[in-house]
Amino acid sequence: MCGIFGYIGEKNAVDIIFKGLKKLEYRGYDSAGIAVVVDKELHIRRSVGKLCNLGLSLKENPISANIGIGHTRWATHGRPSKKNAHPHTDSAKTVVIVHNGIIENYVELKAELQKDGQEFKSETDTEVITHLIKKYYEDNLFCAVQKTLSRVRGSYALGIVSKDEPDKIICVRQDAPLIIGVGVGENFMASDIPALLSYTRDMIFLENGDIAEITAEKIVIKNIKGDIINREIKNIRWDTVQAEKNGYKHFMLKEIFEQPRTIEDTFRGRIYPDEGRVYIEEVKLEKEYIKNISNIYIVACGTSYHSGLVSKFLFESFAKIPTEVDIASEFRYRDVILDEKTLVVVVSQSGETADTLAALRLAKTKGCQILAVCNVVGSSISREAMHVIYTHCGPEIGVASTKAFTGQVTALYILALDLACKREILTIGELKKYLKELWEIPLKINKFLKNAKFVHDIAKVFASKRDFLYLGRHINYPVALEGALKIKEISYIHAEGYAAGEMKHGPIALIDKSMPIVAIVIKGRIYEKIISNIEEAKARGGIIIAVADQSDKEIGNKSDYVIYVPETDEFVSPLMTVIPLQLLAYYISVILSCDVDQPRNLAKSVTVE
Ligand code: M6R
Repeated sequence: MCGIFGYIGEKNAVDIIFKGLKKLEYRGYDSAGIAVVVDKELHIRRSVGKLCNLGLSLKENPISANIGIGHTRWATHGRPSKKNAHPHTDSAKTVVIVHNGIIENYVELKAELQKDGQEFKSETDTEVITHLIKKYYEDNLFCAVQKTLSRVRGSYALGIVSKDEPDKIICVRQDAPLIIGVGVGENFMASDIPALLSYTRDMIFLENGDIAEITAEKIVIKNIKGDIINREIKNIRWDTVQAEKNGYKHFMLKEIFEQPRTIEDTFRGRIYPDEGRVYIEEVKLEKEYIKNISNIYIVACGTSYHSGLVSKFLFESFAKIPTEVDIASEFRYRDVILDEKTLVVVVSQSGETADTLAALRLAKTKGCQILAVCNVVGSSISREAMHVIYTHCGPEIGVASTKAFTGQVTALYILALDLACKREILTIGELKKYLKELWEIPLKINKFLKNAKFVHDIAKVFASKRDFLYLGRHINYPVALEGALKIKEISYIHAEGYAAGEMKHGPIALIDKSMPIVAIVIKGRIYEKIISNIEEAKARGGIIIAVADQSDKEIGNKSDYVIYVPETDEFVSPLMTVIPLQLLAYYISVILSCDVDQPRNLAKSVTVE
């Protein structure tokens, strides 16, 4: 849940590490620090709060070096404070480390080290690693790390430097992402791709158990036994502009506006509406297997869970496969009934969410086929799944997911159609129709975004409200949940998403004349039902903000505000209806001066349970 970065080469490590950390700040931002070696001495700077505080401290107290490691933290063990900020060092200030992850057996290790007389300076689990390395360190840092790793349990991506071997960084990966950036006369390590893109496109994705020794000229990767491991260098095509704000005020806004392109990138090369053909190269499920799938389990967290909920309607209606959707942290602790005829679909933007990864591993033990819908190439989930459909969304930096949701829904829509074809359920005519609907979505979203300023006007009216209700039905019920999640996480306003038909079973009691109710009222099989539901809410004084089809002539009489969206088929409509909800949350957050891209208490990638 933290970001780590390291550099070794001829340039000023401090500048490079600081810039790298800036790109990783979305992973955690409650404290930050940098450690470098100069003339065989360790120098460490740490600050509480965002990275800019570390920047100020480096300005007041500048330093330069050719080797160093840095960290931006999201607290797990030990509150956010200077003493808990990374990097951490041993008492003699010989070795210094940055860590992303959790050391599960740190309590017993700490007790053992304290018994040896070791003093601890922080409340972190990480500090045990520094003391263990020092304990085992004779004259070879790599060997000390090997011995240390044989003692620790948990998840860790580590960057380790010693003042006595200032020509190398040791990088370790176990259940937390770590990438090596391959340069010329310089090398890098980082938790994520965007941090490296300004320096290199050649990257090595470390695997669990890898211990890499990087110098300015060489990268050697070994396993814990010391055997050399060969890892492929991958060339990453994301450009740096993709990873920047591109002129937008916030990453979230940029990512909302990118959606026509990211949806198109996700379906491009996979669908052929004129021919009525779907082709997902990465999915190698046998036709016979597909015909015999007994049920689908979709497992995910947060926004990815919501896109999974959308796809339940698609798998059931298109492919006629019974589908359940589960929150990964629940799934992993239930006695779920799975067998080899169950297709488990894990959905994750980052591919590093701890609960989703654990659910994937559990399903594997039951002999299921595992298919991941994932955005980050080389992530843990994408590597451990048997089949991966990548959403080609590029890096999502805003903590609030936007383009990840629409990319996932797009990928799942295509998958559902592919399964439906292979099970010979849809006619070619139906398939062409559904593919065409998807094909047209980017244009429709673009059209909406060009005239979306009025969403800002609505945001101004409601920004002072403390509660919101979001209502939807059928395939737009999960969109109501997603709309409520967006406003909660970036505006800190209490919001509930409800299946509109469920209102009268309790939540309707909440409605009074000050309650804004955002209702998704798209033409389709339950249009009349949701109209009745909003009438019930209106009769109790609620203020209705409807998201409705452009062609809907009636809705204006039944609601107080209408956000018209281009008309779509109901099965593809979540890709359209979610856009105004994302924008509404965004504008309210800006009006309230909240930190849009880095909301409090959150982090982009939840790599701990
Ligand atoms: O990377 P993942 O898709 O696995 O992340 C799961 C959730 O943490 C994530 O969707 C989260 O709910 C969103 N960032 C909220 O907008």
